[in-house]
Amino acid sequence: MAQYKRLKGTQDIFGEETKYWYFVESKAREIFLKYGFKEIRTPIIESTELFKRSVGETSDIVQKEMYTFKDKGGRSITLRPEGTAPVVRAYVENSMINLGSPIKLYYMGPMFRYERPQAGRQRQFHQIGVEIFGTDTPISDAEIIILADELLKAFGLKNYKIKINSIGCEKCRPKYKESLKNYYNPLLPNMCHDCQKRYETNIMRLLDCKVDSKYSKDAPVILDHLCEDCKTHFNKVIKYLDELNINYEVDPKIVRGLDYYTKTAFEIEHLDLGAQSAILGGGRYNSLVEEIGGRETPAIGFGVGVERIILALKQENIEIENPEKIDIYIAYSGEKTDFEALKLSKILKKEGLKVFLNLSERSIRNQMKHANKIKAKFVAIIGENELKTETVTIKNMISGEQFEVEKFWVPQILKEKSLLE
Ligand code: HAM
Repeated sequence: MAQYKRLKGTQDIFGEETKYWYFVESKAREIFLKYGFKEIRTPIIESTELFKRSVGETSDIVQKEMYTFKDKGGRSITLRPEGTAPVVRAYVENSMINLGSPIKLYYMGPMFRYERPQAGRQRQFHQIGVEIFGTDTPISDAEIIILADELLKAFGLKNYKIKINSIGCEKCRPKYKESLKNYYNPLLPNMCHDCQKRYETNIMRLLDCKVDSKYSKDAPVILDHLCEDCKTHFNKVIKYLDELNINYEVDPKIVRGLDYYTKTAFEIEHLDLGAQSAILGGGRYNSLVEEIGGRETPAIGFGVGVERIILALKQENIEIENPEKIDIYIAYSGEKTDFEALKLSKILKKEGLKVFLNLSERSIRNQMKHANKIKAKFVAIIGENELKTETVTIKNMISGEQFEVEKFWVPQILKEKSLLE
């Protein structure tokens, strides 16, 4: 048995799994570039204070889920539990306001939350996210939601539901919270421990409690309490989405678990995923940049959970090509055949083929076995005989067909054949 094991809630990604990662990451990049986004890579470690300030002291993430430690200099460091706060920090620190407004940024990478692992929930997971800084127009909210929809469609997913809400702003939210307090007050003794705690600290979270969902049925609805500005904004977003025939539903129970949201909030749920069905979450956060020390800058974005997208791809039986397939294995044996193999490998790669050159000292028989194991489509064999006659023997590993070709024709023949397979 292996001496060391990966930590609970983490994963080794290799073999057949990697094709999903290539697919999701490259599709996302392709779509983001189409919308004019630029990549940002921020550090995985940040000061703990950043997340306390942005995600919120009363959020589950800050209260229970952060990987926080002291570094050797005594600073409190946290492994990023999400991508927005670091991007906002980078936006402010690098004065990105000077790069033109609005600016569109995307990122992908690992995030860390100390949660109870289960299917679709890990301690190290991966997010792909986008953020737009510097605009508060309803059309930017609409574009972000349209982008989320286009992204999921580009992955081939069909079985999902977009849920949208507005959670108001600092003007209208306090009054709404008051009415929620009045509503929940008499129900509180029967509610779960978390809800009782959140009643004081984060009352809106009572609306999305899984344990006590029956109590939220008749709760006051935020959409009835929005101020004029938030209401007009939300209605316009909805109009844009209708114009583009986006399939969504307005769900007043969407409140999001992070404290920085204002106005539009949305989540996308995949219908075949069971308990951890949220594949994407996002919304507007108009005060966060200022909160973190920048100038007043409205912003909006979303994050997708890559592991959950991959689970959804499997649930919907979406076929994905494996880009790691080997077209040709080059086997050789005998004096000076290694030089010939090296040259052939260079030519074939130049032709755009995926080539695995034998790197070990072993018999042709064992090289063939290896080629079979790594599922090479063809093997090009160079033995002493081939060296003499300036030929190469080619074996089709799928049909078993074997033939000899003049050296000169090898690239063309292999290219044609491997394209046909
Ligand atoms: P979030 O809803 O906390 O939002 O996370 C976004 C997505 O990350 C979720 O919908 C889910 O798919 C995935 N996710 C979260 N936790 C886990 C976990 N433990 N295991 C696997 N997947 C997970 C945010 O993080 C915001 N920063 C999104 C955002 C960007 N809002 C504005 N801009």
